[in-house]
Amino acid sequence: MQGMLGIVLGSGLGPLAERVVVSRTEAFSEQGLPGSTVKGHAGRFLFGKLGQRDVVVMQGRVHLYEGHDAKAVTAGVRWMHSQGVEHLILTNAAGTLHPGFPPGCWMMLSDHLNLTGTSPLEGGPNFVDMTEVYDLEARAAFLDVASQRSMTLHQGVYAGLRGPQYETPAEIRMLRTMGADAVGMSTVLEAIQARALGIRVNAFSCLTNWAAGLSPEKLDHAEVIETGAAAAASMMDLLEAWCGGAS
Ligand code: 6GU
Repeated sequence: MQGMLGIVLGSGLGPLAERVVVSRTEAFSEQGLPGSTVKGHAGRFLFGKLGQRDVVVMQGRVHLYEGHDAKAVTAGVRWMHSQGVEHLILTNAAGTLHPGFPPGCWMMLSDHLNLTGTSPLEGGPNFVDMTEVYDLEARAAFLDVASQRSMTLHQGVYAGLRGPQYETPAEIRMLRTMGADAVGMSTVLEAIQARALGIRVNAFSCLTNWAAGLSPEKLDHAEVIETGAAAAASMMDLLEAWCGGAS
């Protein structure tokens, strides 16, 4: 029997939860966890089954840009660990910097740049190894499952920034030079916290739009949410298949 799988849903990726057979829910507030200030995000955990696996889905993650600190942003990860989560899947909506990764595609994280200027580990533990944050064995399995389903699944480096504003074109050129393929405002702190607890981690970015300066269009949060909703179905398929198919 495999341990429980945790899944954190990103902005606009709520439909990802639809395939989970839910047995009970737990509100963040009942667990003393900070809630999201973003509209319509109650903040709750769904316990149930996805495919053959026991899962807990976190709906309504909190972000640094809402005024929370790194400890608050990662409280949900520590709580899921206390509930027996051994493998964590983080999802997010992100801008793409890679000419070969157009909006509408999914990118599995091979690595990240933590550019938030903070860490959930301040005060210890110190010097946690970050050589392989995103589980290599599971990444190979995800690539297999994706190719069996003719799903395009890119792999690349995610830059995590504080926000709340989007980047300037000059910042995007800087990030590209630094090796980033995608940019967003979440995920990196949760991944660091999970690794410090010995939880295996994988993460997926829904590439919802070109980053600033890479297309003539301006960035629009509504478009980010819309593209995320449209791409959620293929990620549900991937995760469910990886969890051993429909239960
Ligand atoms: Cl372009 N930047 C950031 N920081 N977050 C995003 C994004 C861009 N697109 C979606 N989320």
